Amino acid sequence: MASLNDIRSTFLDYFARNGHAAVDSSPLVPRNDPTLMFVNSGMVQFKNVFTGVETRDYVRATTSQKCVRAGGKHNDLDNVGYTARHHTFFEMLGNFSFGDYFKAEAIPFAWELLTKHFGIDPNRLLVTVYHTDDEAAAIWKKVAGLPDERIIRIASDDNFWRMGPTGPCGPCTEIFYDHGDHIPGGPPGSPDEDGDRFIEIWNIVFMQNEQLEDGSMRPLDQQSIDTGMGLERIGALLQGKHDNYDTDLMRALIEASANATSTDPDGPQNVHHRVIADHLRSTSFLIADGVMPSNEGRGYVLRRIMRRAMRHAHQAGAKDPLMHRLVPALVAQMGQHYPELGRAQALVEETLRGEEERFRTTLDRGLRLLEDEVGRLPDGGTLGGETAFKLYDTYGFPLDLTQDALREKGLGVDTDGFDAAMAEQKARARAAWAGSGEQADAAIWFDLAEEHGTTEFLGYDSCGAEGQINALVVDGAATGDATGKVTVVVNQTPFYAEAGGQVGDTGMIVTETGRARVTDTRKVADVFLHIAEVEEGNLQVGQAAQLVVDEARRQTIRANHSATHLLNEALRGALGDHVVQRGSLNAPDRLRFDFSHGEALNLDQLSAVEAEVNRHIRMNGAVSTRIMAPDDARDLGAQALFGEKYGDEVRVVSMGQAQGSGKGTDGQTYSIELCGGTHVSRLGEIGAFVTLGDAAISSGVRRIEALTGQAAMDYLRAQDHRVAELANLFKAQADEVTDRVKVLLDERKKMQAEIAGLRRELAIGAGAEAQDINGMQVVLQVISGVSGKDLGPMIDAQKATLGSGVIVFVADTGAKPAVAAGVTKDLSERVSAVDLVKAAVEALGGRGGGGRPEMAQGGGADIAQADAALDAAKAVIAAA
Ligand code: SER
Repeated sequence: MASLNDIRSTFLDYFARNGHAAVDSSPLVPRNDPTLMFVNSGMVQFKNVFTGVETRDYVRATTSQKCVRAGGKHNDLDNVGYTARHHTFFEMLGNFSFGDYFKAEAIPFAWELLTKHFGIDPNRLLVTVYHTDDEAAAIWKKVAGLPDERIIRIASDDNFWRMGPTGPCGPCTEIFYDHGDHIPGGPPGSPDEDGDRFIEIWNIVFMQNEQLEDGSMRPLDQQSIDTGMGLERIGALLQGKHDNYDTDLMRALIEASANATSTDPDGPQNVHHRVIADHLRSTSFLIADGVMPSNEGRGYVLRRIMRRAMRHAHQAGAKDPLMHRLVPALVAQMGQHYPELGRAQALVEETLRGEEERFRTTLDRGLRLLEDEVGRLPDGGTLGGETAFKLYDTYGFPLDLTQDALREKGLGVDTDGFDAAMAEQKARARAAWAGSGEQADAAIWFDLAEEHGTTEFLGYDSCGAEGQINALVVDGAATGDATGKVTVVVNQTPFYAEAGGQVGDTGMIVTETGRARVTDTRKVADVFLHIAEVEEGNLQVGQAAQLVVDEARRQTIRANHSATHLLNEALRGALGDHVVQRGSLNAPDRLRFDFSHGEALNLDQLSAVEAEVNRHIRMNGAVSTRIMAPDDARDLGAQALFGEKYGDEVRVVSMGQAQGSGKGTDGQTYSIELCGGTHVSRLGEIGAFVTLGDAAISSGVRRIEALTGQAAMDYLRAQDHRVAELANLFKAQADEVTDRVKVLLDERKKMQAEIAGLRRELAIGAGAEAQDINGMQVVLQVISGVSGKDLGPMIDAQKATLGSGVIVFVADTGAKPAVAAGVTKDLSERVSAVDLVKAAVEALGGRGGGGRPEMAQGGGADIAQADAALDAAKAVIAAA
């Protein structure tokens, strides 16, 4: 019997032999379609190739595409486990032509593969075509020899395939398998077509139109082919099973679940094992593609599927977390074709285990509450919305989990009541926000959050994505289209909004009608605000927008942010555990880290910290991210910001390898911090790290600024350049410069002292010409090139020379003039040095001055008044 893995290979090999490029499945999160929650068919990754916006280096392709249908428009979640053919995760086999072959080749390809290579009995096959598509009908007749009654014309949208409200579309032809008249059901188009007798196995779309936003349809320049066949469906058929869950692959997972719970795979727990097998696939593949459980958007869909599976695990009798133990069985089945699954195995297991451990703490109590409530309901009754909301809010039961639990008992939920309770809680949150007075104009963002939901952040692993414009806000008011300055709100974005010290991203927003430059990104109530300026055309609400982050800038921000974590850890290692982060800035050009520490770091400490960070950069350890409960994160030794409030779960960023005992359960991790920011994926990407010194910013808090990567190299190069210039000046080697400067400084000090002495001598020797005023010997002089403090000793020397007399000196210092006066003791009763200085200072435009009658000093403002100052002093002496 061919396994599902064999069947997948047969399909891909057949089309490869027929000139098709074997293209890998794209990740489950679409990057090129903002309206789509998850990739739900094989053509999604080729959407822009069909419309001609994008070209590839092949015109024929074949894929086995991972698809998830849970959440959003295509949602099979509710039926999984209870039906034969519903999955949240499935693989879609497809062949594609981009303007190459069309109907005349696509139909024979399908017929040959099904009847020759898969060996399906042609008499069991019948097809549908769009009612006007005579061409397709004629080809079927010719190629397959099908009689008219087995070529059924369908007028409805069932045979006109559209990917969504916009995008490529066209008529299609579907191939059905007839399981025989012992099974109830009618052919397609008949009243009982929903029976199980005729099962659709393959859809071939003739892509020839594009559905536009305004509702009109345009013909595409090229005619293309998009086909889709569910692997599980064709697998069941080829393995002679009626139920997809009986195929080898699904059966292996069901048995793994039964073994792990020591139950019978086909016993009463069967439905639980089926749900678990399906949900194991969707959750594992979603996590491997970068989705993390959260309370918003895709992360919440993942969480809902996880928790749903976990309730079924609990119902199946699992006493401990179960899901993570089944991952090896899944990797054994699917890891070969999807190597990303094996690569992410550890992350998948840990994420599943963490979520299940946390959820189990409330699951039991929630189920008991549910049991109590159910006990009070009549048969076929409805659970109150308030109770469903309590289960959601307090016990973490997504609404569909509660519905799933009740479905087994034939009971329903008052969903209107649930919605009302939810709306009430939101209104309370909003009132609390408004009451806090933090931002009076925040109301508009709350309204937007309520209307459109919060913004989903895609930027952890991507710098470009398509988003849908939900709102444009100009001067605080919402508008339908905008030019000039505008705040743009989209449903999903790769732009990081400023938080936790990391600055907001900048970049471009481009739509069909315009482009805007984003100069900053912030968030309010988890609505991301792209602060932008329209540079060309205009932006319109409802448009799809290409969102492109300035990636070079983001890369340096990322490097700086990761380096901040290393710096934090290196400081704790060097200085002690009292080091606690008090703030940080992660900008594109530098990083800043504030931490508690009482004194300046000496040069040795700073060098050691810098060397430690660089050592980890060179070791190029991995950076990994996990989501967990705050308590678990703290148990792991994660650094949290002091006084910060954390929600139910936190993002934990681990990096580097510890030497000796490190953090984490394995004792091997260097740094573990709670952090929502963006980081490098390996530490080597930081490149280099250099500190610019440390400074005190307040009592007990110090700040280190540092550079990484190219900025660090540029800085070091500039420093080196300066040293080389100095060495050049000294005509010395670079390593001799310090000694040379020391010698020079010593020499300078000595010379300064010598010059001062010489100046004093010179002044006294040259200018000491005494005049007789009022019977006293008086020396009045302006002296250049000395400072105020030189005047005192000069006056003493002059007194000694005169024996008896009065001296007034004005120093022309080059800056503010200084005055000093001296009176020998014998004359100090007649003339006071203080009066002389006061008179001189006043003439010099200064204020004050003082001292003793025998010696006083002061300062002036205007040296041009030096002579007037001496005249003023002279007048005082003359009057004595
Ligand atoms: N896009 C079509 C489908 O999803 C064929 O692949 O059915």
